[in-house]
Parts: sequence; C-alpha cells; structure tokens
Amino acid sequence: MQTTSIEQETLIQDFLPLNGTDHVEFYVGNAKQSAHYYKTAFGFSTVAYAGPETGLRDRASYVLQQGKIRLILTTPLKSDSPIMEHIKQHGDGVKILALWVDDAYKSYEETIKRGARSYQEPQTLKDEFGEVRTAGIYTYGETIHLFVERKNYTGAFMPGYIAVEGGYQPTSTGLLYIDHCVGNVGWNRMNEAVQWYEDVMGFKNILSFDDKQINTEYSALMSKVMSNKNGYVKFPINEPAEGKKKSQIEEYLEFYEGEGVQHIAVATHDIIATVREMKVRGVEFLSAPPKAYYDTLLERVGKIDEDIAPLQELGILVDHDEEGYLLQIFTKLVQDRPTLFFEIIQRKGAQSFGAGNFKALFESLEREQELRGNL
Ligand code: FE2
Repeated sequence: MQTTSIEQETLIQDFLPLNGTDHVEFYVGNAKQSAHYYKTAFGFSTVAYAGPETGLRDRASYVLQQGKIRLILTTPLKSDSPIMEHIKQHGDGVKILALWVDDAYKSYEETIKRGARSYQEPQTLKDEFGEVRTAGIYTYGETIHLFVERKNYTGAFMPGYIAVEGGYQPTSTGLLYIDHCVGNVGWNRMNEAVQWYEDVMGFKNILSFDDKQINTEYSALMSKVMSNKNGYVKFPINEPAEGKKKSQIEEYLEFYEGEGVQHIAVATHDIIATVREMKVRGVEFLSAPPKAYYDTLLERVGKIDEDIAPLQELGILVDHDEEGYLLQIFTKLVQDRPTLFFEIIQRKGAQSFGAGNFKALFESLEREQELRGNL
C-alpha cells in the first residue's frame, strides 16, 4: 500500500546526511594567478592560505570565499607531485567536491560499506582553533568527494591553513552559494554513475532528460539530476549522445582526457546586477540567443518581475516549471582547454534546471565549439 511505503520511506534514516557543499578544490597550473582571476573577476576574497610559508613543501593553496561559496586553488611546486600528474592529464580543473557533514568518519564508513572506492582514510586535523575531520572517496573519473566535519572548529578554514585578512580584497559580485555541480561521464556511463549515487550516497534521481529533449541540429546529450535526501546537494550527470556532429560533452571528454566536472552553478539574488558587474570585471558569457527568444519570452514563461530589456542586453535566459521560474546564464570557458565553465542562476520558485533553455544554450555552445574547430 502506498501510505505504508511513504511511511517507511520517512522512517528510513538518511545514512549520509549532508549540510551542503563545503568547498570545491581546483588543481591549477598557477594558483596565485588563478586566485587573482576569481577575486577580481568573480568577486571572491582570500580567507586562508597554505604553502611553503606555513610549512608545506610540495604545494600552495589559496582559499577564496564569497557568500557561502568556498573555492580552493591548489598548485604543485615540483614536477614529481601527483597534483602535477593530474594537471598534466586534465589541465586546470576540479579535483574535489567537498561535502559538509556532521560525522566524517561515519560518512566514510557508510559509503565504503556500500561500495565506494577510498581516496583518503578518515583523519583528524588539529590546531589551536579545534579540530576538523575529513575522509574522501572517488566518484566519476579522478574526481573526489571529501567529507568535511567542522563542528568543533572555529578557525578560518582548517588546520594547516593560516587566516588571510586585508590586502587585495575586491568587493563581492553578489554570488551566494553553490546551487549544483554538473559532471560529464563517458559513453553509456550515465546510468552507472546514477546507480552509484543511489547505492553509495543514497541520492535520488529527481529529473531526467533524454537526447530527444536535449538536442540541436548537430548534437545531443542525456542528463540525469541526482539529489541528496534534503535537496541541499545536487549533481546532474551528463553523457554524450549520437548526433550529426561532435557534442560539447565529447569535446569535454577529449580535452579533459576523462570524466570530470563540467560546470558549477552559483546562485545570486539579483542576476542582472551580478552579471552586469562580472562583465565589467572581465568575465565572458556565452552570446545571447536571437532576438526572437526575448520576443516570445513572456508567452513561454508567463509573468516575471524583471524587465526584458536588461535580460536581453546581458543574454540572461529564463525558464519556468510548475513552482515558478528561474534566470540563468553561462560563462565562457574559464581556462584554455574546452572543459570547465560556470553558471550564474537566480531561482524564483523554480527548482528545475532550465530545460526550456537547453536548445538556445547548446546552439550558443556550438558556435564556440565551431570557432575552436571541434564541432
Ligand atoms: Fe546547470
């Protein structure tokens, strides 16, 4: 009976309760310069640092923050570093999607028990501000989920890092928190990855798009959105689909040389102000869809609070679902390899991902792909 199964469902305890995203760590060729880009262009501030000055011999890491978003930019100092190997293969990219938990040891134990591959055994790091406990498992490609428990810690980031205050700290552009992080996986790998998130992490598949919904004249892809139980963490997973030409997912897999994070969506409460400010600071966004997109916008999505003119001027896309609407825009690539980019999103009730914009978005992406000779 239905009621029984719903009751049972609510009685089943979440074996992996998550409080949200703790941080995203990038491995990059020059963390000092990357940090400058994310600070100047995106509006992050440096809050912590670890490197030779703090006793590390093999790497330097800059911890940047804006709202609840924490990015770590890490670079190796020597050629024999495993971080260098990662960069050699993948270029600059996301290594760690860290999840904020109340019990890192238990998170590790529960996921390992369900088949996760270990990246880092649980450890407790201590300094004068308390302790942080971490443990890590592999997800798709060489990407890691690090469980971070910081309930007994009051320092700037975690033991091993020193707090950074003052110096060059540009103003925020209004970015608030990470809405979702998207992974690209190889041919016929999406369902395997989805199954992994269900079995190992206790996530649910909340939305699916097939190649008939996500296609242009030239290329196609499939996507499934995975969410943890409380909805604080969402990981859409893409795989390429057959089309007349090479899809953006194939281009990613070729140039990242494997599976990995495709885009990070960050939320704002005022997308027009945020995007306008980011453009002034040099962030490049995908070109706006044709005028017809805005001429028919209100017919498509219903009444919205924003004026159409600034949305059209900036190239911001709008989509709706049963619960409301959302505004979104995508940056161009943030490194030379055609791999990672960002999405800026403002939700006005809608909990979906802009499926109504997929076509406009992918046509815009294909124009870029064409310029690179990769379509
Ligand atoms: Fe997205």
